[in-house]
Amino acid sequence: MANLPQVPTLNIPEVKFSSSSGGRNMPVIGMGTAAHPFDETVLKDAVLEAIKAGYRHFDTASLYKSEKPLGEAMAEAIEAGLIKSRDELFVTSKLWCTDAHHDLVLPALKNSLRMLQLEYLDLYLIHWPLSAKPGKIGFPVPKDEQLPMDFNSVWAAMEDCRRLGLTKSIGVSNFSCKKLENMFSFATIPPSVNQVEISPLWQQQKLRELCKSKGVVLTAYSLLGSKGTRLGTNEVMDNETLKEIAKAHNKTVAQVCLRWAFEQGLTFVVKSFNKERMRENLQIFDWKLTSDDHKQINEIKQHRLMPIPEMVSPFGPFKSLEELWDGEI
Ligand SMILES: NC(=O)c1ccc[n+]([C@@H]2O[C@H](COP(=O)([O-])OP(=O)(O)OC[C@H]3O[C@@H](n4cnc5c(N)ncnc54)[C@H](OP(=O)(O)O)[C@@H]3O)[C@@H](O)[C@H]2O)c1
Repeated sequence: MANLPQVPTLNIPEVKFSSSSGGRNMPVIGMGTAAHPFDETVLKDAVLEAIKAGYRHFDTASLYKSEKPLGEAMAEAIEAGLIKSRDELFVTSKLWCTDAHHDLVLPALKNSLRMLQLEYLDLYLIHWPLSAKPGKIGFPVPKDEQLPMDFNSVWAAMEDCRRLGLTKSIGVSNFSCKKLENMFSFATIPPSVNQVEISPLWQQQKLRELCKSKGVVLTAYSLLGSKGTRLGTNEVMDNETLKEIAKAHNKTVAQVCLRWAFEQGLTFVVKSFNKERMRENLQIFDWKLTSDDHKQINEIKQHRLMPIPEMVSPFGPFKSLEELWDGEI
């Protein structure tokens, strides 16, 4: 992977965006903060533990309700001297569908900054390629409130946010090849990142090639299949090929998934609020998979694990999962 200065104490590699307005590079591994059920105290404690363990990249969203406790934890970490300043951290947040309208983007970002107690974000993403009737943030978006997104005007407002210095970089999430290519036809500031589901069971080769050719950094979510969560599956963690590879290296399946993503040149956000597991997930930078491991992982049968059928409705803009993902399922 190109552009990888090392964090001296922890050796967590970082990526530099080609179209950012400065600020910190993004550590390849970030801590996810989406949880259901959600408990502010649990999250706050987990973030403090994560900072102690060496995490410097945090992934939040207005949808997750995690901005406020993350903000409190970051402030407490600075107060306690765990980090010198906010500039040591890389913070991503996301614009929810209800705010995905030209005039609501800036107020939504300002609200996220207020919750996070920050003056700027490192990265602001359009959470889904979907708008919704303005109002209460929630998931799933009620079917009769889903609206097609006016990509041009929403992205223009995202660009304004970056120009105002309220976010160092802007990007998208859950964008297919077709939707991403469309962005490039009108964007003045191209998206730095596309955050999508990627795992050994859904490797997204076509999207990866497109992102590479356009200089878009791909961030993988649900790399562990989101095991144990409300929309999650055990399919990744119980995969026999991954289990065998893990056994041969004396590592866990989670570590194999994360190392695989790293060796594929991806960045990733992984959620653990457990002190041991969040540390385990950082122990992936001092060993390697073999070419035979990669060959075996390449042969795993592919299918999308997170179809989010709730986002598709006979009344909303997408008539089927096929259409939501532009056939990429
Ligand atoms: N942009 C989007 O639309 C989108 C969608 C989904 C997720 N995300 C982001 O991506 C983050 C991660 O995705 P995710 O939460 O869906 O799934 P994930 O990271 O694949 O899986 C999380 C689950 O795995 C468990 N886990 C973590 N490390 C483990 C380990 N070493 N061994 C065993 N189990 C382990 C966690 O439990 P414990 O906490 O108990 O360890 C949790 O139940 C989210 O938190 C969110 O920030 C973004």
